[in-house]
Amino acid sequence: MTMLLVRRTVQTAVRTKCCRSFSASQTHLNERKGLVLGVFEKEGEEAGLHLTEAAAGFDQNISGKLSELLKISGPTLKKGKSRIFYGIHKDFPCVAVVGLGKTSAGVCGSENWDTSKENIRQATSAGCRLLQDLEVNHVEVDGCGDAQSAAEGAALGLFQYDKLKSKKKTKVTTQLHGSSDSTGWQKGVMYADGQNLARLLMEAPANHITPTAFANTIEERLALHAERVTVNKRSQAWIEQQQMGAFLSVSKGSEEPPVFLELHYNGSPDSKQAPLLLVGKGITFDSGGISLKPSASMDAMRADMGGAATVCASIVTAAALKLPVNIIGLAPLCENMPSGKATKPGDVVTAKNGKTIQVDNTDAEGRLVLADALCYGHTFNPRTIVNVATLTGAIDVALGSAATGVFTNSDWLWEQLHKASVVTGDRVWRMPLFQHYTRQVTDSQLADLNNVGNSRSGGACTAAAFLREFVTAPHWAHLDIAGVMSNKDEVPYLSKGMSGRPTRTLVEFAAGLAQSG
Ligand code: BES
Ligand code: ZN
Ligand code: ZN
Repeated sequence: MTMLLVRRTVQTAVRTKCCRSFSASQTHLNERKGLVLGVFEKEGEEAGLHLTEAAAGFDQNISGKLSELLKISGPTLKKGKSRIFYGIHKDFPCVAVVGLGKTSAGVCGSENWDTSKENIRQATSAGCRLLQDLEVNHVEVDGCGDAQSAAEGAALGLFQYDKLKSKKKTKVTTQLHGSSDSTGWQKGVMYADGQNLARLLMEAPANHITPTAFANTIEERLALHAERVTVNKRSQAWIEQQQMGAFLSVSKGSEEPPVFLELHYNGSPDSKQAPLLLVGKGITFDSGGISLKPSASMDAMRADMGGAATVCASIVTAAALKLPVNIIGLAPLCENMPSGKATKPGDVVTAKNGKTIQVDNTDAEGRLVLADALCYGHTFNPRTIVNVATLTGAIDVALGSAATGVFTNSDWLWEQLHKASVVTGDRVWRMPLFQHYTRQVTDSQLADLNNVGNSRSGGACTAAAFLREFVTAPHWAHLDIAGVMSNKDEVPYLSKGMSGRPTRTLVEFAAGLAQSG
């Protein structure tokens, strides 16, 4: 079928004058250009397709050839499906047409996302990937009526972590086809670049992204925005001086020195405006420590700095977007390793606020590093605190990769996060912070708190209850991202690997705060 289609389109090509000049210009430029165009399904009873504005313009340009080919080449193009046509336009030897579903899709109350935006992301991503496989190196993309979503799909779909492989995929550059909404397109590229930065950090092996290398990478990325940003890479001596005993109890099993990364983005015209505080768990490798994890899938624990990666990447993106808001980012970075110096089950450590913690399971280390970072964060009098962490396997059991679990003491903050996630399609779901769970972590034989609950049930909730013991601010949210850390094929516009979720939701949330002043 594909071969037939190719032959047919090539025959068309040799017959038309434009395609003769196309082959000459291709040899000359030595660049393979492609185009991604969208088509909607017709509404209601009507069968057939409805071309986007850009696709209709293109179709007109080649005297209706595109609609003709779409009709004869197979069934009506369904949502997420694509078809390639070769040699139908002198400038674009390969044209990928992608199905966008129904025009009327919009926000879906039960799915908690904007289906139209998701369809566009999925379609442009699929189209760009098809062209990448054909070694097309420059792709123009139809804005499909929402250039931001189109750009997100394209840039997220084309992301590849092949830095360490000899054989690499074709590098593809993209641009908006036509001039419909270049601001939206640019914004989409920045949102996706932010998520791709988080993916890069999470996917990279732990011997490459050590705490020091992580901090240096973020510092380099922020150097472009030096006039609005300060970066402090706090050393072990500083951490000790701060009396962050919980954080240090995790880092002490490793030969790699810990780093406490502190970012200040001053985007608001009012330099005194209370900041949004973002705190990210930064375990660059979680072996479990003395409570060693099983070896199967332990490699995935290189992404246990996903909280730090998404938080720092969202600050890099906020700076690139020049969002008028002040943000402070904190990332306690270290490895969790077993050694003769490592913390042992039953050890008691003291956090920055003086609370004592019995560490019964050294694999529940995320809450320990976050406890000290949260205490320190309060000293900036933030308007809102959001911490992000690959905290528990239990949140994956509860929600899978459908949504980030949000535990919050603030209905207002929940609303803001939820609203942002409906736009980005990188969803959140609210989880409980009952006293029921608090009782389970305050019941300790030796100390004020125990780092694990006294029951195996509700693990994500007891972890959140533990963190709450280090929060006095009225607007705090804990995002457990362990379930959304990686992607197999659930999110079609992200390839297999570490997901960088929910960076775009954090950026959208910060943009919302910036707008509300
Ligand atoms: N980093 C893990 C949680 C995790 C699991 C992240 C799977 C991503 C995918 C965390 O430090 C951990 O090991 N948590 C333990 C807590 C338990 C010991 C109370 C867990 O979830 O099993
Ligand atoms: Zn752990
Ligand atoms: Zn961990």
